[in-house]
Amino acid sequence: MDKPEYLKVPLASIGLRQQDISSAVEVLESGQLTMGNRVKGFESAMSSYLGSKEFVMMNSGSSANLAMIEALMRPVKSEPKLNIGDGVLVPAIAWPTTIWPIIQLGLKPVFVDVDENTLAIDLNCAEDALRVSPIPIKGIFPIHVLGRAINSTKLQTFAAQNKLQLINDVCESLGSWENGQHAGVYGNGGSFSFYFSHHITTMEGGGVATDSLEFADDLRSIRSHGWSRDRSDNVDWISKNPNLSEKFLFISTGFNIRPMEIQAAIGLNQIRDISSFVLRRRKLARTVNDAISGSEIELIGSDCLTGSKADENHSWMMLPIRVSKTCKTFTKGDLVEFLEALGVETRPVLTGNFLAQPAMTRINSAGYDPAVFNVANDVTQRTLLIGAHHDFSDQQMDHIANCLRYFLEIHQS
Ligand SMILES: Cc1ncc(COP(=O)(O)O)c(C=O)c1O
Repeated sequence: MDKPEYLKVPLASIGLRQQDISSAVEVLESGQLTMGNRVKGFESAMSSYLGSKEFVMMNSGSSANLAMIEALMRPVKSEPKLNIGDGVLVPAIAWPTTIWPIIQLGLKPVFVDVDENTLAIDLNCAEDALRVSPIPIKGIFPIHVLGRAINSTKLQTFAAQNKLQLINDVCESLGSWENGQHAGVYGNGGSFSFYFSHHITTMEGGGVATDSLEFADDLRSIRSHGWSRDRSDNVDWISKNPNLSEKFLFISTGFNIRPMEIQAAIGLNQIRDISSFVLRRRKLARTVNDAISGSEIELIGSDCLTGSKADENHSWMMLPIRVSKTCKTFTKGDLVEFLEALGVETRPVLTGNFLAQPAMTRINSAGYDPAVFNVANDVTQRTLLIGAHHDFSDQQMDHIANCLRYFLEIHQS
């Protein structure tokens, strides 16, 4: 085949349509800019899509992670579920703001290697970590990576058997279902991100899905300075505190991590179209998989592309592409250089092995050696990501596939 001509394929596209821009302008003209009825509307749209009893919108997925941990450590009514010094199992391939709130709020991340096929926390390694840990481990905070749902039965059983508080980071996996249950919407709850590169966009934005009204109430206080206003039990707090102003009744610790109406208005439009967005992403995954199958490079997660209902386990936030261990003719670096030169942008898998990041080495009080996380290191060395955004044109999708085909042709002949 001829060498493909250069065509830009970024990691993500802006994701806003004319209808989203019109809704945003409507909000600006309405005079109600800070959190109000549109946020409430988006929250109920999200809980009905996810099948959760509650959804609490926030200004980002990172804030959602922070708020979940704060709510477990300082609940308003019940005993804390996590206490300062407790260990929390986390994957070695992680996003920084899955880890930072654990450290910032006085817990200890206990790093565990990942599974090479799902890229998520490996529960066998987690079991080993539980056995040898010098500190009490009381929680597990897995990431559902890049659109792939972690097996919910295995995860929930593991958490229950080991008496661990389970919270899920689902920031990369909106639209991923498993036997009728959405990824990560169980345990204490799951966090979502609507940053522009994700499955839906509110520009910046996020939130927590949970089936616990108590947890949701605490998240609503924590989101907004610690006040009682947005809670389901607000009237009880007002009647218990007759000498305090009912609008300025603070009952919890908190931050200001509220979303704005403009984000919710855009989100309301976007969530209606989530299924078509995921189908488009899946189409690209199939196109790429067809181009490379049987070669020295593989699409991680292609086992989900069965053409049956099982493929709903994956909503393809991006495409993880791995160079085979036995490949003698090229390296990941060669592939990255080739794709970038033809306009196909690439990046590492999340942060790669997070223990190897400078910020982590600086505050690595537990003395982790990044070298012992074999799979995480292997992912860093052999796997790259390319975009899978639903806005990509057919031409862009074909370009990715053609670049990969051409690369394989010149390296295998
Ligand atoms: C796994 C994971 N958690 C949390 C976040 C943070 O989300 P946000 O960018 O909305 O703060 C991201 C962002 O991409 C992520 O990939």
